[in-house]
Amino acid sequence: MVYAKNQLSWTLQIKPGVFNEYRTMWFKSYRMTFSYLNRIKNFRYPWVKLFSTSQTTVDSSEVKTFVALAHKWWDEQGIYGPLHSMNDLRVPFIRDTLLKTIPNHQPGKPLSGMKILDVGCGGGLLTEPLGRLGASVIGIDPVDENIKTAQCHKSFDPVLDKRIEYRVCSLEEIVEETPETFDAVVASEVVEHVTDLEAFLQCCCQVLKEPGGSLFITTINKTQLSYALGIVFSELIAGIVPKGTHTWEKFVSPETLESILESNGLSVQTVIGMLYNPFSGYWHWSENTTLNYVAHAVKSRVQEHPMSAEFVLKRETEELQATACTNPAVHEELKK
Ligand SMILES: C[S@@+](CC[C@H](N)C(=O)[O-])C[C@H]1O[C@@H](n2cnc3c(N)ncnc32)[C@H](O)[C@@H]1O
Repeated sequence: MVYAKNQLSWTLQIKPGVFNEYRTMWFKSYRMTFSYLNRIKNFRYPWVKLFSTSQTTVDSSEVKTFVALAHKWWDEQGIYGPLHSMNDLRVPFIRDTLLKTIPNHQPGKPLSGMKILDVGCGGGLLTEPLGRLGASVIGIDPVDENIKTAQCHKSFDPVLDKRIEYRVCSLEEIVEETPETFDAVVASEVVEHVTDLEAFLQCCCQVLKEPGGSLFITTINKTQLSYALGIVFSELIAGIVPKGTHTWEKFVSPETLESILESNGLSVQTVIGMLYNPFSGYWHWSENTTLNYVAHAVKSRVQEHPMSAEFVLKRETEELQATACTNPAVHEELKK
């Protein structure tokens, strides 16, 4: 028995000749029932409101950590140094991915005309370079002190002042006023801090333009290595990030992320590993995703969203009937 990668259905692999037709029938109905139940679980009608603004994805204990460090965002040698140097990878990655969707772009301002939402923008370390590339960026963060730092820093650059807007809020607070608004949503090093990952990703999906809106996520995989290096080494031994910054249980594997995204109508295009060298202070790309990784997903059309449960049931019943028609023994069983 295999649990499919997108976690939408259980699949039974039956070795030919091992089971007779009757058993094959039984397994098909079994598979159909599982698939049906799974799809009912994952399917959401597009017109159903997905997230109540009375709920929140903000974890108050996480907020305390970020409040205490809010004045340190722009210290390149300080606690947020790794996020500064992560820009060497993430900014070109976002730029080049988005450029594939723009036929003619202005030299110097290649992302001009694009609307980007930077969720959990912190002090604006990623928001600013995206603004410099010409995009109109809204940076949101639930921590007031972070937004104050970000506002203050961008005010030194009059060009950025016009292109970037910062707001103190969570994503779920703006989802109703900005449905299908953004060409891209960026949540960099944020999902490992939220309380309800599924709700957070649903909101990301809702504010993306349809079809074609791009979601960029950078985060930490949930592996033994990420526990050893991300928490024990980085926080407790080397002090690269303050103790208590991360909770291993909140880390997420690319597979889980992909499954949640796909059940929300996003199709994952790319997942690439990123490795940080604490001695050089630089990041590099890697095929290895056991620690940090970036994921890019694109919002599909409504028709491509998860199929309705009724449709799945109808299709699988038809398959079953087709098997019955071509096989007299199975046909007889069905008649009983
Ligand atoms: C590690 S920092 C990353 C900051 C920024 N994205 C960057 O990479 O430079 C995580 C940020 O997420 C914010 N955050 C935490 N929980 C959040 C939530 N539920 N929704 C949005 N932002 C959140 C924190 O306040 C913090 O600024």
